[in-house]
Amino acid sequence: MGETVKMLLTEEEVNRRITEVAEEINKDYNGEPIHMICILKGGVMFMCELAKRIKGPVSFDFMDVSSYGHNTESSGVIKILKDLDEDIEGRNVLLVEDIIDTGKTLNKLSQLLYTRGPKSIKICTMLDKPSRRVEKEVFVDYRCFQIPNKFVVGYGLDYNQKYRNLPYIGVVEFENE
Ligand code: PRP
Repeated sequence: MGETVKMLLTEEEVNRRITEVAEEINKDYNGEPIHMICILKGGVMFMCELAKRIKGPVSFDFMDVSSYGHNTESSGVIKILKDLDEDIEGRNVLLVEDIIDTGKTLNKLSQLLYTRGPKSIKICTMLDKPSRRVEKEVFVDYRCFQIPNKFVVGYGLDYNQKYRNLPYIGVVEFENE
């Protein structure tokens, strides 16, 4: 079965919105150091573009998690595939995600990270699918776009590991459906 990718958000639209969100972040943190944690792999491109626009001191760390039994929907139980390299105690953590769907990943992950004594944890996502949310208590501090429940790729997001490098956000349409 083949698929095609249809444009949803152009590179210019995405970048313009990232600049706006970075300005909000700059205002809120007011020069305080930000410890950005990228949730691999989808968040990589967004985190780089966001970080370029942050004015104060920024540090990076990376975490890779997967849900057990992940097929199309996360199960709510996360397995740490790669933990953080550094301690987050006393730091302002900004969790950077490509997309929030059910919210289960971030719900579990932020619960875990709170036990490590950060000064603060905020969540920043490029895309948000509010119609899919199961975990209502996940508070999204910064979001670039709310999108409908479509299968999106590009700007870090994949379909079977393909299309992560697209500089725009597209919707996958499956042929013969
Ligand atoms: C995606 C996304 C989030 C999670 C969101 O990651 O990056 O981590 O799913 O889903 P949820 O809100 O329903 O928990 P994915 O497991 O596809 O991994 P990837 O970023 O490595 O492609």
